[in-house]
Amino acid sequence: MPVTLRSFAKINMGLCIGVARADGYHELLTVYQTIGLHDVVRVSIQRGSGIEIQCADARVPSDERNTCYQVVERAVIRIEKRLPVQGGLGGASANAVSTLLGLEQVLKKRLPAAERLRIVAEVGSDLPLFLLGGTVLGVGRGEQVYPLPELPAMACVVVTPDVGVSTPKAFAQWDRRKAAELRSAGQPMAAVPTLTIARTSDRISELGCGLSAWLSEQFSGAPFGRGRAENPLLALVRAGIKNDFEEVVFPEYPELGEAKAALLRAGAKYASLSGSGSTLYGLFGSKGAALQATTRLRKLGWAAQATAMVSRAQYWKRLLV
Ligand code: C5P
Repeated sequence: MPVTLRSFAKINMGLCIGVARADGYHELLTVYQTIGLHDVVRVSIQRGSGIEIQCADARVPSDERNTCYQVVERAVIRIEKRLPVQGGLGGASANAVSTLLGLEQVLKKRLPAAERLRIVAEVGSDLPLFLLGGTVLGVGRGEQVYPLPELPAMACVVVTPDVGVSTPKAFAQWDRRKAAELRSAGQPMAAVPTLTIARTSDRISELGCGLSAWLSEQFSGAPFGRGRAENPLLALVRAGIKNDFEEVVFPEYPELGEAKAALLRAGAKYASLSGSGSTLYGLFGSKGAALQATTRLRKLGWAAQATAMVSRAQYWKRLLV
């Protein structure tokens, strides 16, 4: 029996890039949030040999480069692509996790949680978040995930400029930019790598402290201070969430910076690049405000779509189609 699943997208609410590690990855600190936009993945086991990936969108690789390929052998996977390719919404990662969950369903076998996590983390850094859904803290290279208290389910407008941003290239550009900043500050070349590491670590610690403060406010039983009364999203913004990739991606693709400005002008309470882009999102106070902003942005020529955050409970409830 084939199984059909929704693979929901994610946005990054703040993404801090830390040290470049010996294994070629960077330390990261980010808050992931699943949203309502999704692809549809249909998984079935058929007689055939090898792996077959079917997708009408020619830009989605159907060979071993596709993340779904790496998850399973001897399966037929059909991807109904709605999310942008290389868009920073985790589309390929979500597809791969849906494939694994769909296979479990088809084969009537359930992998232990630790095994699932190990498999998906091997395939890519932003797959594991899709084994939790909702609001998720990502550390390490982004693959170590912890459920956070859910943010209020805000309306969201996603703008998808027709540009594909390569994540490894964006990371490499970040490294070059940081090294150049240090050189222009008069640091001797030999000292650059150490200083880069020290500086980026400081930035991760700073955001880490902000997030810890945010969490302790959520859970504190102290009978004084703001406690739970404040909007948790505003508190999170105050904790210093910002996406470091904007620094390197906006200069390279100026229209992405313009899209962020357009979202803010259309009334977004918070707007940001998601992952390394090219998708931008804005958070809105109500569904009505998001729909109005979508109409306004479309009139200006932006590919805008209204959606909403998807909580952990909704994520699992709506997973199977
Ligand atoms: O983990 P994933 O395969 O999605 O990463 C793709 C590439 O992005 C890596 O090969 C690496 O170049 C870069 N990356 C990184 N640091 C991370 C995540 C990804 O440098 N935390």
